[in-house]
Parts: sequence; structure tokens; C-alpha cells
Amino acid sequence: MNWYGRSLVSGCLAALAGLASLTAQAQAQSYPTRSITMIVPFAAGGPTDVIARIVTGHMAQTLGQTIIIENVVGAGGTTATTRASRAANDGYTLITGHMGTHAASVPLYPNLAYHPEKSFEPVGLLAGTPILILARKDFPPKDLKEFVAYVKANETKVNAAHAGVGSVSNVSCELLNSVLGVKPVGVPFNGTGPAMNALVAGQVDYMCDQIVNAVPQVNGGTIKAYAVATPERNPSLPNVPTTAEAGLPAFQAQAWNAIFAPKGTPPEVVAKLNEAIVKALDDEAVRKRLLDLGSVIPAGADRTPAALGKLVNSEIAKWTPVLKAVN
Ligand code: MLT
Repeated sequence: MNWYGRSLVSGCLAALAGLASLTAQAQAQSYPTRSITMIVPFAAGGPTDVIARIVTGHMAQTLGQTIIIENVVGAGGTTATTRASRAANDGYTLITGHMGTHAASVPLYPNLAYHPEKSFEPVGLLAGTPILILARKDFPPKDLKEFVAYVKANETKVNAAHAGVGSVSNVSCELLNSVLGVKPVGVPFNGTGPAMNALVAGQVDYMCDQIVNAVPQVNGGTIKAYAVATPERNPSLPNVPTTAEAGLPAFQAQAWNAIFAPKGTPPEVVAKLNEAIVKALDDEAVRKRLLDLGSVIPAGADRTPAALGKLVNSEIAKWTPVLKAVN
């Protein structure tokens, strides 16, 4: 091909690239024009599902499109997170991830098919979720001191329910068990929704779960709560002592839930989604539902995509040495 031919081809390619970028820009500006799928990496009815449904219910109004929740379970939330990382980066497939899928899974799964920082665009934090030590209602210990003594004395007989390796419930109880120096049997479920049903039915002994899954059950007297693993008591369960008050200050744990989009999702789309999250978190009805379930609503500065990116980075740095030491 001569010089003229070559410059004609490169001119055409440049024009096509320009056209593609204009189309992508126009698509991002008109986003969303159809329904959005929100992947929830655990069973319906559990804490991630509940928080995702509360917040996306309001986001859908702001965005003018339906947000369809799809529960994709397995491998402590990493099956769904892998799937979300491979979805088209057009804003129509998102995931509500958490401290497990987007931090603790990194040291726990050496062959993880995604990386929380490299495979996703952080969109926005939805809620902080304090961790509680819970047990079936007829579990013999009456308080946390008795629980500690009982679990130490019966370590080979008791079991702890969780939502799969790397889930919040698994990681939190691993931390608790390492503080106590015990290795009870773990009983995995597809989420702490079904794990809670087993706890209520008395089929498992104890569990470390996010508060939103526990408030209705604790208040209804169907399970017992020994302590909340945060520095302050939670207003939704004012009679439940902190782990420090109850004699186990070394056990501190709070999880979080947040929305992520596949890497390369246009910044305009991420900004629209983030705006919708912020609006939802400022809505009185949404706030009431989240607070009634004991969640911690992120403050203004913690709601940006950049703040979520920093949180993921610091949580990976925090959990990696802890979980390596526990293992
Ligand atoms: C769930 O929604 O089932 C939980 O977030 C699971 C967990 O991580 O413990």
C-alpha cells in the first residue's frame, strides 16, 4: 500500500475510534435506558440481600429504571463476585459486595479469579454492619463469660454456622475462635439468611453475624446475643453489651456492604450510580429502615467512589496478616 492508501486507512480508523468514543459517551450520558441487574453474592433474606434491597429500591426511583436483584450463591460470595467482574462494563450489571468478597477473600483464596481493586470500579458504600456473637436460644451459656468458658471446654462438640470461606460470618468467627484459642466445627451455608434459620431451629450452636440479620430475631427472643463487637452498644439492641463490657475486648469486628461495577465502567455511569446511592442514604424512610436494623449509615465523606476504593485497599491490608495468622 502506498503512502496515500496508508494515510486513508489510518484516517478511517481514527474516525471510527472517534465515533465509538462519541457513542460510548452518548450511552453513558443517557444511562440508564433499561433495567439494571444487581448481583447479591449470598442467599435471599440475609444481610447483604436486605441492605441491597433497601438501598436499590430507592436508587431505582432516582434512576428511573428497575433494579433486579439476582442472588448468586457459592464459595463465600466469590462465585458471584467472579461473575460480576466478567460482566459487561456498561453499568447494567453491578454487585453488592462486602468486607468478605472485596477484602478477606484475597488472602483466603490464593487463586481468586478477580482482584477487588483491579477488577472493579468502586461505586459507593451502603452501610456498616457491626458483628454480634449469637447463639441458639437454648445454648447453655447465659452470658459472654460463660460462652467463652463453655466453648473452650467443649471445643470439639460445638459448631459455628457461617456463609462459606471468606464470608463475613466465617472471617469474624475465625477471628473470635483465634482470640479464644479454639477450633470448633464450621457449618457452611449459602448465606447467613439460611444459617440464621438453622440457628433459630436449634440445628447449629453459634454464629458471628452482621447485625441486620440479627435484630428481628434477638428482639423476638428466637436466638440470643452475647455481645456486639464494636466499641459502643448499638441503639437497635440497647441491652446487648459490647465485647469490652462483657469481658472480651480483644474481639472487635464490623463489616460493610458496598456497590461495585466491573472495571472500565464509564465514570459518568459510576457518578450517576453514586449520586443515586447518596440520595437513598439521605432519604428518611431508607435511613429509618437501615438504622432500625442496626446498620451504620456512612457519613458524607465516606460515600464517594474514591473513599470506597481507599476502604477496600485498607481492608485488604488489615485482613491479610490477620487471616494468615489465624490460618
Ligand atoms: C449474607 O448476606 O448472607 C452475608 O453477608 C454472608 C456473610 O458474609 O456472612
